[in-house]
Amino acid sequence: MDKQKMRAFMGQFMEMTTGAAVMGVVAVADRIGLFREMAGEAPANLDHWVGVTGLQPRYLEEILSTLAAAGVVAFDAELGLFSLPDEQAACLADEASPYCLVGWTQMIPALYGAIPGVARAAREGGGVAFADFGPDMVEGIARANGPGIRVLLTRKWLPVMDDVVARLEEGIRVADVGCGGGEAVFAMAKAYPASTIVGYDIDSHSIQLARSRAQSHQLSNVRFEQCSAEEIPIDAEFDLVTTFDVIHDLVEPIAVLQRIRESLSSGGTYLMVEPVAGDDLSENLHPAGALTYAMSTLHCMTQSLAHGGAGLGAAWGPRRAEMHCAEAGFSQFERLEVDNSFNAFYRVSG
Ligand SMILES: C[S@@+](CC[C@H](N)C(=O)[O-])C[C@H]1O[C@@H](n2cnc3c(N)ncnc32)[C@H](O)[C@@H]1O
Repeated sequence: MDKQKMRAFMGQFMEMTTGAAVMGVVAVADRIGLFREMAGEAPANLDHWVGVTGLQPRYLEEILSTLAAAGVVAFDAELGLFSLPDEQAACLADEASPYCLVGWTQMIPALYGAIPGVARAAREGGGVAFADFGPDMVEGIARANGPGIRVLLTRKWLPVMDDVVARLEEGIRVADVGCGGGEAVFAMAKAYPASTIVGYDIDSHSIQLARSRAQSHQLSNVRFEQCSAEEIPIDAEFDLVTTFDVIHDLVEPIAVLQRIRESLSSGGTYLMVEPVAGDDLSENLHPAGALTYAMSTLHCMTQSLAHGGAGLGAAWGPRRAEMHCAEAGFSQFERLEVDNSFNAFYRVSG
């Protein structure tokens, strides 16, 4: 055994352990609104932050100490002052920012709840169903995916398809399948008021969340329906169907792709957005690949296998995406040139 290599791995492992533990405290800080309280404020001592937040002093001291040691908040050791740098605030306090990452702190701990079920399923088969992850997972997904969709979908992603944007501006029928909390539906409905957008999701929590958010958006051109993707209406003649981070989760991905094709008008477009990944493990041997496989093991794959599904997993790439679309009867498939490190964009039709 090479002791140097072992020590290097110990260091790597302890970094992972630290990240996992600190993530829990960041999740607590998010829930108690600490980042929003600190954003844009001058450095101040513990007593000040206790006064501003009304939090228990001993808890706040330990939370701020964790965050300071981890470099999440800044700490002036000489004066004993804590502050949230603007850069951290953009990622943790401002959900209007496309750089906001704070939703991950709700989603990742929700994944940990699935560990016993995934271990059992790894021995006996089956999986952990989506509904068993609970509302934190639904909200965590909406908050993690939301900032990108809210800010970039209508400014950067859809504009790579000029003709589709022109039609959206004129007014067309759009469906977002597996809409979750409805972020994409709201973004498209706001940007293209002449179009009508319907969000479908099989999950009742997701539809409840989307409908409650719809009230505050006050948009007259949106609608949400609890409906399985296998059963979306085929006589609706949608001019655009979108899926964001959905196909790899499905029990029957090919059947859903077929249904999407049948639900499109002639000349209609399907925009499929999936995690960025290569088709083979050898293409995914990097930190982003590790995150994708981990999310897949603890959520995407297992919730499909829970219902005897395909268990496609989140790390599938353009070759398999094209193959599955062809199997579903689509004749045209194009990977769109969108600069994005999380998502791959496919324009599918025919
Ligand atoms: C990873 S989430 C993505 C949610 C949303 N599109 C987003 O980007 O935030 C996948 C969604 O697909 C939904 N879903 C899974 N299987 C489905 C099915 N058969 N029919 C409709 N929705 C489904 C889940 O309920 C979940 O809301």
